[in-house]
Amino acid sequence: MPFYRAVGEVPHKRHTAFRKPGGGLYAEELMGVEGFSADSALLYHAGLPTAIVDAVGYDAPMASRTPNLPLLPRHLKTHKLDASGADAITGRQYLLANDDCRISYATAQVPSPLYRNAIGDECIYIEDGEGRFESVFGAFDVGPRDYIIVPTSTTYRLAPHGDGPLRTYVVEATGHITPPKRYLTAKGQFNEFSPYCERDLRGPAGPLIQEGTDVEVLVQHRRGWTKLTYAEHPFDVIGWDGCLYPYAFNVEDFEPITGRVHQPPPVHQVFDGSNFVICNFVPRKVDYHDGSVPIPYNHANVDSDEVMFYCGGDYEARKGAGIEQGSISLHPGGFTHGPQPGAAERSIGIEYFDELAVMVDTFRPLDICESGFACEDTGYAWTWSGSHRTKGV
Ligand SMILES: [Fe+2]
Repeated sequence: MPFYRAVGEVPHKRHTAFRKPGGGLYAEELMGVEGFSADSALLYHAGLPTAIVDAVGYDAPMASRTPNLPLLPRHLKTHKLDASGADAITGRQYLLANDDCRISYATAQVPSPLYRNAIGDECIYIEDGEGRFESVFGAFDVGPRDYIIVPTSTTYRLAPHGDGPLRTYVVEATGHITPPKRYLTAKGQFNEFSPYCERDLRGPAGPLIQEGTDVEVLVQHRRGWTKLTYAEHPFDVIGWDGCLYPYAFNVEDFEPITGRVHQPPPVHQVFDGSNFVICNFVPRKVDYHDGSVPIPYNHANVDSDEVMFYCGGDYEARKGAGIEQGSISLHPGGFTHGPQPGAAERSIGIEYFDELAVMVDTFRPLDICESGFACEDTGYAWTWSGSHRTKGV
């Protein structure tokens, strides 16, 4: 995170005795990345954050991977995966994965267990629904079109509320997810070229204290999943400060950069991952040169696989391909992709695109997981030509 926050009570001087009203010390915890050399937070617990009483293995959600062979563009329909009684953590259905990130979708109807991802940061995009994010840092409400960025090893849970389920599209990193460096000054403030800034980010406003003993936390770690049982509830932090904490950013606060002719996807970047980027295409005025073609030109991204999650409006370039709300397209490296037939001509003269999509570009190839195959529209690859000669589709 680029800027400092302080929530609840913290002592004036770090690493000094900070006593509870009835006596005894609060337990200070430093949570930091890159050893002790980069962003961190100091949290003050009423109990010991180290006090576990049990540890058992836990069966990880299915995420086995199959290479994209033969090489094909793919179309996944996430809403076909809707399941009843699922939560936002154990209900994640993994779609695409490589060693740098795992992409999943969950339709949450019940609160998740307490959970900690010790492999990397998470980016949770709320496609629809209302909910509450609760963590050791505090809580905040989330709703449609929010991103939640969760730092590695944050203990949290996500609970839907309201009428509908909480639809979540999740990118789990092996590493960290941050605003792109080019949006930040040398000291970490968002600069004037950035499409969003500090005012657009929502963090926990106050401490979240919950009572409990023998509290289970699911931990996803580098060797699998483990269920740890804590002697006392991990949500016992009376204050923290620092530059590492979960926050939400609503995509409607992303200010699109437009031009006379087509702007390349990097202007739509919202986050930087470890060997991947996240971009969003938001409703916007489009190209205003007299002869401009507003939709994208055909392109071969020779260094990346491109994943688009279509989550609002009407995506002009994909009309006629069966893409709908909740669809995902995978356009892998080695395959030149572009608009559907006729879309370029139709787009000339259009002044505004009412579209919303979240894009992940990975720099290593993505494999396909079981749930990806389970919701695949296998006709997508042939929608540019209208035929599939070898299989008669
Ligand atoms: Fe593309």
